[in-house]
Amino acid sequence: MKHTTHIYENAELSARAVADLILGKAKIKQQQSQFFNLAVSGGATPKYLFSLLAEEDYRTQIPWENVRFFWVDERCVEPTDSESNFGMTYDALLQYAFVPADNIFRMKGEDIPENEANRYKDLLRNKLPAKDGFPVFDLVLLGLGDDGHTASIFPDNLLLLDSEKSVEVATHPVSGQKRITLTGRTINNACEVVFLINGNKKAKIVEDIIKKTPAASAYPAFYVHNAAGESSFYLDKEAVSF
Ligand code: 6PG
Repeated sequence: MKHTTHIYENAELSARAVADLILGKAKIKQQQSQFFNLAVSGGATPKYLFSLLAEEDYRTQIPWENVRFFWVDERCVEPTDSESNFGMTYDALLQYAFVPADNIFRMKGEDIPENEANRYKDLLRNKLPAKDGFPVFDLVLLGLGDDGHTASIFPDNLLLLDSEKSVEVATHPVSGQKRITLTGRTINNACEVVFLINGNKKAKIVEDIIKKTPAASAYPAFYVHNAAGESSFYLDKEAVSF
């Protein structure tokens, strides 16, 4: 597994670097008359990135008609709930950007989790190319939890890393909240896996993962990478203690 780190002075600059990456990739797909299939995470960290993409500079440059939005995971709540990953993305970006409604494939957190996991699995099979029976995203944007989780793959359920299903139901180990999540083999099938991580709360875990210490083996984020075994870490300097 190869982890590439990109370290920036602050969270704004690390988010801007990921925004530039998304702009560049979407433009290449536009030139190829193809879709850029992007899966986004929730939580707090991507919010600033999304608000950046909504700013005139990016909003008017990104070929939104070529960008398709999917979700890495969703909390099992209404889309209007403050916990909703779709809701956060809509409020920060989608309500401002010219993304065609047909290009937005949200996970329906309000539905019965098992039913939604199956529906989303079928949707990915219909909409995305596949390899080894799993869907292929162009870019999967991930975060890192304080316990080393990523997507909604938590340390107490590492089995989701090797699940035969592309989408599964998960349970938050502390809150008990139900989640819908892409599984490890779906994430690891992607062309590109990008972590956006800020803040010193994550620094020790980032260090363990990058240095492949024995402690890293407990962290789901340690096991995810793209189809070539690589992942990119976009970090502010607070998140780097090594
Ligand atoms: C979620 C996410 C999750 C997130 C991490 C980091 O739905 O919560 O997809 O995997 O990326 O929990 O969250 P923060 O960015 O809030 O630290």
